[in-house]
Amino acid sequence: MLEIKNLHVRIEEDGTEIIRGLNLSVKAGEVAAIMGPNGSGKSTLSYVLSGKEDYEITEGSITYNGQDLLDMDVSERAAAGVFLAFQYPVEIPGVPTMTFLKEAMNAQRKQRGEDELTTPDFIKKVRAAAADLKIDFNMLKRPVNVGFSGGEKKRAEILQMSLLQPQLCVLDETDSGLDIDALKVVSDGVNLLRSPDRAVIVITHYQRLLEHIVPDTVHVLSKGQIIKSGDKSLALELEEKGYAELIDAAA
Ligand SMILES: Nc1ncnc2c1ncn2[C@@H]1O[C@H](COP(=O)(O)OP(=O)(O)O)[C@@H](O)[C@H]1O
Ligand SMILES: [Mg+2]
Repeated sequence: MLEIKNLHVRIEEDGTEIIRGLNLSVKAGEVAAIMGPNGSGKSTLSYVLSGKEDYEITEGSITYNGQDLLDMDVSERAAAGVFLAFQYPVEIPGVPTMTFLKEAMNAQRKQRGEDELTTPDFIKKVRAAAADLKIDFNMLKRPVNVGFSGGEKKRAEILQMSLLQPQLCVLDETDSGLDIDALKVVSDGVNLLRSPDRAVIVITHYQRLLEHIVPDTVHVLSKGQIIKSGDKSLALELEEKGYAELIDAAA
């Protein structure tokens, strides 16, 4: 589903190379974890997948379902089923979460050439998804992320993910601040979405989240490269030995 080959990325502003020859392949049905120390380029990779500006791809390719992902703009990526959850969710004062969700769904439908959802249909879908994820419907009347607790932000994000029914989900998880409650929200949401035709990339610094979302593959990122890949036991090994040993061994 996703094929990244020899990717090199630098910060447009100052030319610093962050991703340095990254290779990664994720198949449909797979849950892949990307782990790595702070500053290894995890968030940069998620930004590049999302199509955020400020980055320059100097070499390599990203293919998504046979298409050149780097050739698609942000809305084309969303319409093609790419969903990204960022480490730092944005607040949108004045825009109720419900309105935001409806806009997001309709933008995706429009790009796909489908009719807009009617309000009753939309409400029905949100109610069902919120119930599945045990989300209080009242929270959705508040402006997007404004004054939300860490757990509420995660709830809103996972709800958005489940409504958009993406094919490729990329979740860049905060290294800290995810309490056990938020951890459950994220893992339940991802586990509900697991399916043979969907792929999930979970980016995380710690192994803790992977106790709840058991990955099929684990990839270790260091200095902009995947230095080791394995199955879920690699995450346990990392937790035990730390990153330093592995990074030294790869050097
Ligand atoms: N916009 C930016 N300008 C300058 N340096 C950046 C920028 N974004 C990221 N970096 C640097 O790139 C490296 C990788 O960052 P990041 O992708 O956020 O790592 P991670 O998510 O693995 O902690 C870090 O050294 C960081 O300081
Ligand atoms: Mg990060």
